[in-house]
Amino acid sequence: MAEIAPSILAADFANLQRDVEMINSSSADYIHVDIMDGMFVPNISFGIPVCEAIHKHAKKPLDVHLMIEQPDRYLQAFRNAGASGITVHYEACPHLHRTIQHIKELGAEPGVALNPHTPVEVLSEIMGDVSLILIMSVNPGFGGQKFIENTYRKVATLDGYRKKFGYNFKIEVDGGVNLGNAPLLVREGVDILVAGSFVFNSPDPTQTIAELGRS
Ligand code: DX5
Ligand code: ZN
Repeated sequence: MAEIAPSILAADFANLQRDVEMINSSSADYIHVDIMDGMFVPNISFGIPVCEAIHKHAKKPLDVHLMIEQPDRYLQAFRNAGASGITVHYEACPHLHRTIQHIKELGAEPGVALNPHTPVEVLSEIMGDVSLILIMSVNPGFGGQKFIENTYRKVATLDGYRKKFGYNFKIEVDGGVNLGNAPLLVREGVDILVAGSFVFNSPDPTQTIAELGRS
C-alpha cells in the first residue's frame, strides 16, 4: 500500500478546478505541485498565484516540489499559497540545513529531493531533520518521461538508513511511475508515489489513483 500524490503538472490547465476536484473525490492523499523556474530545470511550469488557486479548491494537502534555484527566496510565499509540505532540491541548496529549518519554522513539512545522479548518502547528516526524501526517477523538468531503473537501489539504500538509525522521513518517488513499477517501489520501501501522466492520461483517473494506491 502506498500513499498517492497525483501531479497537477499533467492536468488540463484550462480546467484546473475540475481536475483538482477529481483529485479531491479520489483516494489520493496529496496533490503534488511542481514548480519549475526555467533555471534549475529547463522548463517553466507555473508559480505562486496558480498554487494559491489550486489551494482554494483543494481538499488534500499540497505537496509542493520546488525545482527552482535559491528556493529560500520563495518559501514564505509558497507557504502562504497553501503548501503543507515544501520539498527543495539538494542540488539547489548550499545551506540545506538552514533551508530545512526555515521550512519548519513556517509550519510546513520539510522535504529534500535528489536528482537521478545524486547518491542518497549525501543526505546522511540531514536525514533526521526532514519529513520527506524525494527520489527523482526522471531528470526533473518534464512530465511523461521514462522511469530510471537505479531508483530501486536508491530507495532500498535510503530505507536501510531509516531502519538502521530509526529516522521517520517518508520516501517519495517522482517520475515515470506506473502500475508496472509501483509494486516494486513499494517493496523497496517507498511510502508516496507521485504520478502525473499515468493518472491524467488514463481513461479513468480516479480509478487509476485507487489502483496505484493498492500497489
Ligand atoms: C518532473 C516532475 C514530476 C512530474 C511527473 O520533473 O517533478 O512531478 O509531474 O510526471 P510523470 O508522472 O508524467 O512522470
Ligand atoms: Zn514533482
